Amino acid sequence: MKRIYLDNGATSYPKAPGVGDAVKRFIDDIGSNVNRSGYTGSLAAEEVVFETREMLGRLFNFDHSKNIVFTMNITYGLNFLLKGLLKPGHHCIVSSMEHNAVMRPLMQLKEKGVEFSRIMCDATGMLDPTGIYNHIKPNTKAVIITHASNVCGTILPVAEIGKFCEEKGLLFIIDTAQTAGILDIDFKEIKADAIAFTGHKSLLGPQGIGGFLITEKIARSMDTLISGGTGSLSEYEEQPPYMPDKFEAGTLNLPGIYGLHAALGYIEEIGTISIREKELQLTEKLLEGLCSIKGVRIAGLKDIKGRTAVVSVDFKDLDNADVAYRLDKYYGIKTRCGLHCAPSAHRTLNTFPQGTVRFSPGHFNTKKDIETTLSSVNQILKDLGSTSR
Ligand SMILES: Cc1ncc(COP(=O)(O)O)c(C=O)c1O
Repeated sequence: MKRIYLDNGATSYPKAPGVGDAVKRFIDDIGSNVNRSGYTGSLAAEEVVFETREMLGRLFNFDHSKNIVFTMNITYGLNFLLKGLLKPGHHCIVSSMEHNAVMRPLMQLKEKGVEFSRIMCDATGMLDPTGIYNHIKPNTKAVIITHASNVCGTILPVAEIGKFCEEKGLLFIIDTAQTAGILDIDFKEIKADAIAFTGHKSLLGPQGIGGFLITEKIARSMDTLISGGTGSLSEYEEQPPYMPDKFEAGTLNLPGIYGLHAALGYIEEIGTISIREKELQLTEKLLEGLCSIKGVRIAGLKDIKGRTAVVSVDFKDLDNADVAYRLDKYYGIKTRCGLHCAPSAHRTLNTFPQGTVRFSPGHFNTKKDIETTLSSVNQILKDLGSTSR
């Protein structure tokens, strides 16, 4: 049975061509640390780390590549940003579509006296940016928004929010876990203060590498969560104050950076526009097919306008987990069932607590994959005798 991978919202598979080779090249041929030694292999690795920052700078139209910090993933990146910037007495604003990578740090911060307000999105997951206005308080410090929902794919209006934040003097932090590599994200145009990214989803890189981009102002004012060896200013026991060393204590994930370097090279070569076009073609086919099946309710937007390739389905009178199980067991189709670490998004979409089966096609899926998926869903519903609508 051919494996049909439709779980790119969780992590992309396969990775971009050359990613596996690049990781292997580091492990087999380089192996040495950066910023600590002056010999040949170490300098070669330093060059790749430098180039990877430059590539990320190009991807996000961000000029200060030294202000791009590597972490394990976007969760770590968001923790750095939220815990480094928000202090007791501060207030921040989030949307109701946020992932737990934002909500759990905020719940921890709440214990320490940081308040947050949640703006409700509509039942398609869309946010009215003017809603932010009603939540602003004298102590509001930041707005944190996911660029696109990991549950239903709705793209949030970050450019409007950024403009608004700039006018009101609020920091604007964006979670690009679901959009980096497929949408054009322009740090300057969006008027972001910080963008967090993860390497293993639509950036088509390996797991274990992500990070954040920050303005010089934030770089200077934000506290670091982690301190330790950087290979620089070793005569001091204090953390270096300059970038990126201030936030990059300990050995970097160099195999991950090598893999991300290869993935970014691939994305630069083929371009985000063609990546997006292909994903939307697959998504359109998937949505049209699913909408025509009796017993299927799409959570969120029903056509391709304003969305990514993430499509969530509630199989109304069936157990969603059973459908996902059958898709995998009998047809080799990999989806993700449940609440996708975003309970508030599911509440917004009226799919809480049952959750949804999430189909997330990616760059390497084919039309045939989608056709097989649609016929398999049809067959499963027939087998289970779905009667709704
Ligand atoms: C919107 C969003 N934010 C954050 C995350 C967390 O990503 P990671 O596990 O790479 O830190 C995810 C992953 O599911 C996501 O979809």
